[in-house]
Order: sequence, then C-alpha cells, then structure tokens
Amino acid sequence: MQSIVTRSEPPIRLRLDGIEVRFGGLVALEDVSLQVPAGSVVGVMGPNGAGKTTLFNVVCGFQRPRAGTLSFDGRPVRPAPHRLVRHGVARTLQGLGLFGGLTVLENVAAGASLSHRAPFVTSLLGLPSGARTQRAARDAAATLLDEFGIGDYAQSLPPALPYAVAKKVALARALISDPTLLLLDEPAGGLDSADIEELGTLIRRLPARGDGSRSVMLVEHNVDLIMSVCDHIVVLDFGKVIAAGTPDEIRADPLVAAAYLGGKDAA
Ligand SMILES: Nc1ncnc2c1ncn2[C@@H]1O[C@H](COP(=O)(O)OP(=O)(O)OP(=O)(O)O)[C@@H](O)[C@H]1O
Ligand SMILES: [Mg+2]
Repeated sequence: MQSIVTRSEPPIRLRLDGIEVRFGGLVALEDVSLQVPAGSVVGVMGPNGAGKTTLFNVVCGFQRPRAGTLSFDGRPVRPAPHRLVRHGVARTLQGLGLFGGLTVLENVAAGASLSHRAPFVTSLLGLPSGARTQRAARDAAATLLDEFGIGDYAQSLPPALPYAVAKKVALARALISDPTLLLLDEPAGGLDSADIEELGTLIRRLPARGDGSRSVMLVEHNVDLIMSVCDHIVVLDFGKVIAAGTPDEIRADPLVAAAYLGGKDAA
C-alpha cells in the first residue's frame, strides 16, 4: 500500500517550510511554505511588493532567511548561488545576462560547462579532451536553438537580437545544463502578448523534456501566463501565502481576487 501511494505522488524536488525574511521592521516573507513536485510547473504570483522576488532570492541563495528551512530532493540545504549547479538548479534572472561579445551559439554552449552532470559526461567521453566536450556543448546548443525556433540567430551577437529572441537564448542557456529544477524570474517581463503566448508553450513543455521529471518554479507578474502554464500556483500578499491551488482554484478564490486581481476577474 505504501508503494502505491509513493508511486502515484511524484517526489518533492523543492520544499520550503516556514520561510521568514525581514528587512529592518518590514516582514517581507512570513511563514511561507511551498512544494515543487518533480515534473511540475509551480508559479508564485502576487501584487507589487508581495515578496515574490524575495522568495526567488531565498531559493537562489541571494537572501538568507531569518527562519525556515529549504530542501532539494529531500535533502536540507542552505542555498548559495555558487552551489546551485551542484544541486541541479539553473535560473534565469530578470536581466538577460548574456555575454555581449559571444555569439548566441557560444552563449548557450557556455551554459553547458555549468552542468551538474559535467563530470559524468566528461568521464563518459573519456577525457581529458576539452575539444570534445566543447564540440558536444556546441552540438547541444545548436539543437536547443533549433528547438526554440531561433537557429537562424546562432551566429548573431546578443546586442543585435530582438528582445524576445534574447529571452529565449537566456532560457536555452539555463536549460543546456540539464537542470532538475529551473527557476524563472519574471520570464514574461518586457514581452508582448504574442511572445508571451509562445513563451508559455515553451515553458509548458519543459518538464516533458528529458526524463519528464524536470520541475519549474516561476515567479511572475503576468496572471495570464501563470494561469496557462502552471500545475500549481502559490499566491503571496504582504509576504504571506494567501492561497495555493490549481489555476482553477486560484481563479475562483475570492481572497486572490481581492488582493491581486483587484476584483477585475472576480465572478
Ligand atoms: N533589500 C531590501 N531592503 C529593504 N526592503 C526590501 C528589500 N527588498 C525588498 N524589500 C521590500 O520587501 C517587500 C517585498 O519585496 P519584493 O521585491 O520581494 O516584492 P515583489 O513581490 O517581487 O514585488 P514586485 O511585483 O514589485 O516585483 C517590499 O515591501 C519591498 O519594498
Ligand atoms: Mg519582484
């Protein structure tokens, strides 16, 4: 019986329990708990100042919580930006952070060197042979660019790119490290509605890539995007979780309508 239960519920990739962050007297996060199961897309939304970026920073290790615990794959962790890769975590930040002097292909290939699987891949290839790993990274980057429909930009330099293309390049660079958990901070920021829809389709497909167990946590302002791509949504308001559930449950939640949608989408 135990095994049936275990099989029907995916393991928890990321777990936050009782996270608290204060800035002086301001409580930015209070007793925030959430779980990101393997193979799912979990969204964090909330009005301005709700604590979304602070929460993202806690998971990335940019912000140390005053109280609370985090675990990746059941292991308690104290995240630090330089240790994320070891945990199989990759992220895209609000800024693009692309290397202006490298081509799109080189930018994406550079992300491969950050892979938590790199030592394994290296041993498979019978290294030391930097050239072979580099070639493998470039091949993988080219495949990703094609998959994202931006193969034509492989030799372009980032400053010349349309913004929506640059966003996809940043996503490809995070993805090439084959993360088990991908963190996205405001991925829709600065995009028009057609581009947001396309991005949504892309994000939706992320867990199914590879072995189907990749998880995505996105912090996002855009309600339509979050509703269309997430399996589960957590809503913050004034640093507290005021609602958590499926997109339908969140849409129907009067507290959310009052806090976030300003009654706009309320029935
Ligand atoms: N470094 C800081 N020092 C002091 N206060 C901060 C700091 N960072 C955030 N805050 C405050 O903490 C609260 C939560 O901010 P946070 O940036 O996490 O909200 P947010 O949900 O990301 O908002 P937005 O939608 O505007 O990006 C806000 O009241 C903000 O002013
Ligand atoms: Mg923010």
